[in-house]
Amino acid sequence: MTRQSIIPPSGGSYNVQNDLVNSHSFNWKEIKKNFSWHNTGKVNMAYECVDRHVEDGFGEKIAIHYIAGNSEATLTYRKLKDATDRWAAVLKKHGVKKGDFLFVFLPKHPECHIAILAAIKLGAVVGPLFEAFMEEAIRDRIADCEGKYLITNEEYLQRVPLNDLPSLGTIFLTDEQIKTNHAISIPKALAQTEVEENVIEWVDLEDGLNIHYTSGSTGKPKGIIHAHRAMIQQYITGRWVLDLKENDIYWCTAHPGWVTGCVYGVFAPLLNRATIVLHGGRFNADSWYETIEKAGVTVWYSAPTAFRMLMAEGVDTLNRYDTSSLRHILSVGEPLNPEVIYWSIEHLQLRIHDTWWMTETGAQLIVNLPTEPIKPGSMGKPLPTIETAILDDDGNKLPVGEVGHLAIKGPWPSIMKEVWRNEEKYRSYFPFGPNWYLSGDLALKDEDGYIFFQGRSDDMINSSGERIGPFEVESKLIEHPAVAEAGVIGKPDFIRGEIVKAYIVLKKGYTSSPELLADIRLFVRNRLAAHSAPREIEVIEELPKTKISGKILRRELKAREIEKLYPVEV
Ligand code: PRX
Repeated sequence: MTRQSIIPPSGGSYNVQNDLVNSHSFNWKEIKKNFSWHNTGKVNMAYECVDRHVEDGFGEKIAIHYIAGNSEATLTYRKLKDATDRWAAVLKKHGVKKGDFLFVFLPKHPECHIAILAAIKLGAVVGPLFEAFMEEAIRDRIADCEGKYLITNEEYLQRVPLNDLPSLGTIFLTDEQIKTNHAISIPKALAQTEVEENVIEWVDLEDGLNIHYTSGSTGKPKGIIHAHRAMIQQYITGRWVLDLKENDIYWCTAHPGWVTGCVYGVFAPLLNRATIVLHGGRFNADSWYETIEKAGVTVWYSAPTAFRMLMAEGVDTLNRYDTSSLRHILSVGEPLNPEVIYWSIEHLQLRIHDTWWMTETGAQLIVNLPTEPIKPGSMGKPLPTIETAILDDDGNKLPVGEVGHLAIKGPWPSIMKEVWRNEEKYRSYFPFGPNWYLSGDLALKDEDGYIFFQGRSDDMINSSGERIGPFEVESKLIEHPAVAEAGVIGKPDFIRGEIVKAYIVLKKGYTSSPELLADIRLFVRNRLAAHSAPREIEVIEELPKTKISGKILRRELKAREIEKLYPVEV
């Protein structure tokens, strides 16, 4: 396959180039030398992200620049260290200790970062929750791993079904004035808690760091646990792929409740001592461009849906702002169409560098390094030292150009530690033995080693880069009194990549009406999350099913949608 590639700008000086040009013996041991624990033996992700930079003399550097409408705030590395120490002291006083599951349910705000880092300082396993999650999504996650602590605010607490979560011990609220009985107001507690000199709990590289729940095509979301060792790969991808340098102002648009927002919104940039931009509030083209202008963003990591939404706004909006500070743009989470790259080259004079990874992989694995040519439509090539293959159904390597299972040779430093209480699920990623991790994605490789995404091998839906399990949505739909059966698929969509579409069979006595369908959609939206609610619902008489087991044939439903988009002429 030949595709025209877009070569990197000449004369650039990139970290990856500087690091690798004279080093023919790259190995992870070398990378480990960048961490303080390499000399001290004392491991803690939050220490590497914050405290060590203060100790190295960078306390006055801005760690976080928060922008929300007209309000702005900055936090230096020293202030971030003090805040995380003080929050950690409060958490510790109320029992939080190494290995406890602590959930953080907060908006995009510096407090969300502080909460995550403070919990990690104590060795707790932190579970950031997406700010738009509704009751059921929250219940599934906290109940599954018997979360012991929660940091949230009074407003978000309304969406936490406390009565169904007996494991939850203490609730910490970020509000000064609180109405909830037995909860702890963090601002009040801070005033009453002595800061401890050495609040950090030193851990092992293999100890639990964070838990992110992720969907597959069956069952409830599974808890993917990562270990502190993930920092090795998160640091180096921040350096080589994001190309973070001392003066960079870096903006990752994802909320820390998503794995991208946690790994590349909190860990990787702080490990690289960058200045993070945090944009409070939802997507809005004007306020996004304004954020780039105000903060002087230099490195920008976002997702194809966001870029397509910006494209759809038109260049007039773009031209109202000064985005000339940008020097490096990256994308993740869903296929990046070539048009988006061409749009960026035309209007921002920059290429967009696609990256591929998954919750389970803990960090980027397939990337477009800033020094390499980009082939639009490709996700890039494996990170140095990472080996990938395209396998057939029996685990044999396929030749160039053939579509098969995208597999990664393990282990790599950031691979998940475990799937919480689900050894079988963990093993299912390695059907051909421990060497090859199977991603569930279908892909092909070209003669230059570039990898092209071709779809999923299961029924997982990817809408706006968010991973949605059809089973979860179907289960919720059939709880609605009017719904007898449901089959949920991803319908191709120009802006969002896919949208959630539900085919439903109504119970006897119900007839379809716009009001009923709106009610069903709201039913899901109010219980799971807005992004999981079907954007389209179609009522049918009968769902296609397998003859033997009677399982819903989602593939057939999807084929109907594709057929509508691209009718086959006979
Ligand atoms: O299908 C792939 C898609 O997102 C899945 C992983 O989703 P999640 O665990 O939520 O993590 C998302 C961000 C790390 C993958 O199995 N995906 C991720 N990146 C790309 C992608 N699909 C196409 N192109 C990408 N660059």
